[in-house]
Amino acid sequence: MRDADAPRPPPLARIPPQVACVDDYLPLARERIDPAAWAYLDGAAADGHTARDNAAAFARIRLRNRVLADLSGGHARVTLFGDTYDFPVLLAPVAHQKLAHPDGELATALGASAMRAGMVASTESNATIEEIARVSRSPLWFQLYLQRDRGFTLELVRRAEAAGCRALVLTVDAPVNGVRNGEQRAGFVLPPGIEAANLRGLAPFAPAVVAPGQSLFDSPQVAAAPGWRDVEWLRAHAMLPLLLKGITRADDAQRALDAGADGIVVSNHGGRVLDTQVATIDALPAVAEAVQGRVPLLLDGGIRRGSDAFKAIALGADAVLVGRPCLHALAAAGASGVAHVLHLLRVELEMTMALCGCRTLADIDRSSLVLPGAQPSP
Ligand code: FNR
Ligand code: LAC
Repeated sequence: MRDADAPRPPPLARIPPQVACVDDYLPLARERIDPAAWAYLDGAAADGHTARDNAAAFARIRLRNRVLADLSGGHARVTLFGDTYDFPVLLAPVAHQKLAHPDGELATALGASAMRAGMVASTESNATIEEIARVSRSPLWFQLYLQRDRGFTLELVRRAEAAGCRALVLTVDAPVNGVRNGEQRAGFVLPPGIEAANLRGLAPFAPAVVAPGQSLFDSPQVAAAPGWRDVEWLRAHAMLPLLLKGITRADDAQRALDAGADGIVVSNHGGRVLDTQVATIDALPAVAEAVQGRVPLLLDGGIRRGSDAFKAIALGADAVLVGRPCLHALAAAGASGVAHVLHLLRVELEMTMALCGCRTLADIDRSSLVLPGAQPSP
């Protein structure tokens, strides 16, 4: 084990040419981050099965190339809520990015802007939504956690609207924190100076600690857990398009649409909340079937290659988000690292499209895939 107090190298000033793919940033990040913070930033719930399976499930799907297709005029553009993006990869909401880099979310926003990519800013970011919006030159979305204080929640929504955010992403898969064994073992607590900047003025609401003899169901977290009525309330009050993040089942997707959701993010929070939960790419087809193209459908969890984005699009997603890879790149090389990760994923996606004979995202369909257990069709 590395000494927790050993000096750590600063972020790289230049990206070495040996960094060839997204996962090459992982070791570079790890050596730069304090082990307790790493347990939070790279961590997963319980035994980490879902976090690993998110990525492994992509590898189980095989591609079928198509030869000699006409690729002229091809592109990977996608339009979401009125904005056109050059490629369908956005930055997932990730809390407390100052743990990874002194400039935190501001560096991430610069990296996203350099690639004209969308970024979803977390409620629990270390810079305020106004500060992030000030440096952003590409579409910014705001991820919302409903606060117990609904007045404060609405104020957050108004701030996101006033800051020019293009969509609201309500995260619904984490009413309680999940079993965070890794953080517990590493003794992770937020260090001094790292705060949820958007929540200044709000009484802190610590994760549920259940004393022996007590029940989680009697905790303040469960008492404050949002329900479908809160989604309807938010839909009625928010002016921006509203996505629900954290859906993995068709019946929940249908209810989300009934409650007025304008978009859905298939997500299991990167395996950070409920371990052994189904991998997102395995959950996607049923959700896509329920949504029927009525609203934009996004997916995150385990995207490490552009070909993963291709597979998600083939199974019904309009776009994908990436979490940990950008965090690793942020820690390793700041804004340039984030921009580089987006660039790598874009080029790999476009490479996969070209080799599978797909000129545009609309050309990507299941005929390019062999799903686990299936025989390649003719
Ligand atoms: C997250 N994620 C997350 N999601 C969310 O809705 N609000 C948040 O504040 C956070 N915070 C957060 C912190 C850290 C350190 C991580 C790694 C993740 C989940 C995130 O948006 C996304 O769902 C997953 O990270 C996607 O999986 P990959 O790309 O990390 O495999
Ligand atoms: C997390 C919370 C902040 O995943 O969403 O750590």
